[in-house]
Amino acid sequence: MRIENKVAVITGASSGFGKNLAKRLVGKGAKVVLADLNIKEGEQLAQELNKSKSTKVAVFIQCNVTDDRQLRAAIDKAQSEFGGFDIMINNAGIIEKRHLFADETENWKAVLDVNLTAVVNGTRLAVDAFRRQGKKPEGSVVVNTASIAGLGPFAMAPAYTASKYGVVGLTQTFRRDLILSHETIQPTEEKKRDPRGGENSAYEAIHELGIRVNAVAPAWAITGLVDGIRETVDKMAITVPVERVMEAFEMLIENDDYCGNIAVVLQNKPVYIHGMPVSTSKL
Ligand SMILES: NC(=O)c1ccc[n+]([C@@H]2O[C@H](COP(=O)([O-])OP(=O)(O)OC[C@H]3O[C@@H](n4cnc5c(N)ncnc54)[C@H](O)[C@@H]3O)[C@@H](O)[C@H]2O)c1
Repeated sequence: MRIENKVAVITGASSGFGKNLAKRLVGKGAKVVLADLNIKEGEQLAQELNKSKSTKVAVFIQCNVTDDRQLRAAIDKAQSEFGGFDIMINNAGIIEKRHLFADETENWKAVLDVNLTAVVNGTRLAVDAFRRQGKKPEGSVVVNTASIAGLGPFAMAPAYTASKYGVVGLTQTFRRDLILSHETIQPTEEKKRDPRGGENSAYEAIHELGIRVNAVAPAWAITGLVDGIRETVDKMAITVPVERVMEAFEMLIENDDYCGNIAVVLQNKPVYIHGMPVSTSKL
């Protein structure tokens, strides 16, 4: 998929990864719906982006991703403002501020709601909208923001770690569910009898559907999220530049072979794909 002339909805777009990605996509000719709780920063970013292009390329919508109606409204905004919807970035995220067993305010529930439940819902709503608008020549894509804490535990934050493992699991399994639930892509009788369950059709099926779901899994980067854990993050000495994380997003959007894949961003290494591209992997 080329990014030029596509329309993206980005949650958590007022700061950090979301803000940088909005700038990157607009820089490559896309239009963006900026969805976030933070009105001031989000509106400011929309103004900045529109000014930079001397035309309307960005719109801000106040959105709490844990509210189904607000998430739907953000997706609808892509159609109503820019006449299309091609890219969904489920990126809003928070991290717990207290240890799990000292968490009297039950903040861990909010971590799971924002980082996992809203990502499942955002993926479902986006795929539903993609299907309703019909297959596009260059397809449609969802990119979720996981973390290396979704591939190996970050002991200081168990709820955060659980949520990111969940995002990785969702992303890796979604394509099978999507294929099996798509009425026009039922396995042939021959493939149903195959004990591997029609795995050979994954590549064709994904291309017929034209919908891909991927995730980025970055190491720590200096954004608002790490404010409360900066000392620990600095001690781990594994931070990555935000720009490298943007390369991972871009790769997963642009390369149509990536579906159900996780792009890992580690310090001092090129971005790499965890798991094989769909063209060579099993269902
Ligand atoms: N910074 C890191 O080190 C790092 C590493 C790996 C993954 N991540 C993930 O990247 C994503 C973006 O985080 P970031 O690092 O840019 O942090 P950030 O704090 O700069 O940005 C997060 C954004 O999400 C928004 N947000 C929070 N709760 C929301 C809600 N309920 N509804 C809508 N918006 C909400 C915030 O207002 C903020 O603008 C998160 O999912 C985070 O877990 C971050």
